[in-house]
Parts: sequence; C-alpha cells; structure tokens
Amino acid sequence: MSLPEQILAIQNGALDHLSTVDTTQELEDWRVQYLSRKGELAAAISRLADLTPEERRSAGQAANHAKAALHDALSAKSADLKAVAQRDSALDVTLPGIAPVVGGLHLTRQTLYEITRIFMGMGFKVFETNEVESDEYNFGLLNLPPDHPARDMWDTMYVSDDVVLRTHTSPGQIRAMRHFNPEPLRVILPGKCHRYEAVDASHESMFYQVEGLAVGEGITLASLKGVFEAFTQQMFGADRRVRFRGSYFPFTEPSVEIDITCNCLGAGCAVCKGTGWLEVSGGGMVHPTVLRNGGYDPDIVSGFAFGMGVERNAMLRHGIDDIRHVYANDLRFLKQFT
Ligand code: DAH
Repeated sequence: MSLPEQILAIQNGALDHLSTVDTTQELEDWRVQYLSRKGELAAAISRLADLTPEERRSAGQAANHAKAALHDALSAKSADLKAVAQRDSALDVTLPGIAPVVGGLHLTRQTLYEITRIFMGMGFKVFETNEVESDEYNFGLLNLPPDHPARDMWDTMYVSDDVVLRTHTSPGQIRAMRHFNPEPLRVILPGKCHRYEAVDASHESMFYQVEGLAVGEGITLASLKGVFEAFTQQMFGADRRVRFRGSYFPFTEPSVEIDITCNCLGAGCAVCKGTGWLEVSGGGMVHPTVLRNGGYDPDIVSGFAFGMGVERNAMLRHGIDDIRHVYANDLRFLKQFT
C-alpha cells in the first residue's frame, strides 16, 4: 500500500472509530491515538522523508487533507457531546409536575378544634393536664376512694400501683381548681384517655374526652343546661334540643346524663334506637368534697362539670357507625374528612 493510501486508510479508520465515541474521555483517547505527536497520523507523516519529491507531494497533500478532516470531525464530535450533556442536565419546565401528597388534620383533631372553638366563644379557657396521672388525682380526689365500687366503671392500665393512664379527663378538674382558686374559673380540658376495654363498635381502649368545668358563685344546673344547649346547637345544628336524665357519678351531686335530639329530630331511627335521643355526655354539679379538694369553699361557690367523648361527637356529626374506623389508619376512611 502506497503512503497516500495508508494515510487515507488511517483517516477512514479514525472516522469509523469516532462514530462509536460517546464520552469526553473516549474522545480524548481518540485524539491521542490519531492526532497527537505520537499518534498514527504523525507516524505516517514521518515516513514522507523516505519518498521521492514527486511522491512526497501527493502524500503530503493526503496527509494535510487527513489532518484537516480529523480536526474538523473532532470539533464536531466535541460540540455534540457538550450539547448532549447540557440537554441531560437541563430542567424541562414543560413537563407535568409531581403532585405532593397533602396531609390533613385527623378527624379527631378537627373535632377537638371545633369543640374548642365553640367553648372558647363562651369564655372557656383550654387547660391541658397530665395524661399519666396518680391514682389520687384520677380517683381519690374525685371522691372515689380505694375500693369504691364505682371504680369498676374506669378500669385502666397501671403504670405502677399508684400511677395510671388517666381513665377520664376529670382529674384535670382538680388541677384546674388548684391552679385558679380562689378565683372563679371556666375551663375545658381536652385530652387523651385510656381504659381497659372490651373493644367494640362504641368503645376503644384509647380515646379523647373534653371535660368542662365552671366554678363560681351562683352557678346552677340551669347554667350547665344553657351552656350545653348553646354548644349542641353550634356543633350539631340550631334545631337540636338537650335533655338531662338523672344519673350517678361520685364527683357530682346531682349527676346527669346529657342527651341531645338525634339526627332524625325525634322521629326515631337506627342511630337512636327509636328513642329520638342520643346520650352525649355525663355531667352534674361538682360534689362539695371535690370543690374542697380543689381549694374552694362549697358554702360560697358552686360549679358544674361535664365530660364527653370526642370520637362520639365526630361519629354523630358524620354518621360513622364504628369507633374502630377512627384509629384503624385506613386512608380511604380518613381522607373523607380532609
Ligand atoms: N368522667 C366521666 C367518665 O369518663 C364523665 C363525666 C361525668 C365527667 C360527669 C364529668 C361529670 O365532669 O360531671 O365517664
């Protein structure tokens, strides 16, 4: 093969090779192999010296031609690689976005906020107290001494012999009274409670309550009725009514169960089991012993108290038939309320 033919073969081989190059490192290796001072083209050119002047002219032309062609191809390839790199790292603002997952407040929290908003509108402060309570606060100071049979209504998880997970928000009554006495007070005590329960459609072992407490001169059961009616009408609708039924709690005297008219407005349905009424809360006038334990003189002041379940409020408002849905963490259920 004559030298010009060899040069042409190097040129064609280099261009073929170049078409397989797709990184800048490969391109640099390619340049070194063909175009550097120790590259294949330079080696061919060094053999020009062995030729006759006649042959040298045509081989020299072929060499110049090959050199120019390879340099052109090198710059074109280098520009291509740069363009690809830029395209790959560029942000395409026309692509559709990825929607973030938006969370929402849990049904219980929404209901708590709504209850809180309504009572704050009536001048109640929010007073939060311990979720882990002493036996003394959870029971004793509420007029439930050890071995009192009524303790059976509130069996719970014991942390130690005299420390429990609170079974109700009522111990907060003592803490609030001890905080505010001798001033009059009007508070709600929202919070988490625990009981040793046989879990069913209306009982969970963990649930929320909102306790209400007002202490001052001249407070009567009628005050409780008025406050509860105002709450009920804002929470469930202006057409709802409230009734009291006589009941028993150790920390109130007299004690009542508070019912509100059902969604069926008294016609009778499956939710109210045909009675037209729904039980939503316990309540009553704070027992003199409990007032005394809170630091008040029952001869001067009186007070009302009530305690209601937050999930029960949510269930009645939204027509939920089983409390277990509320904490089963099934998004199909929870998303209905966000
Ligand atoms: N603590 C009671 C319970 O969990 C509810 C209750 C009843 C609270 C009467 C009160 C009340 O403040 O006066 O079953």
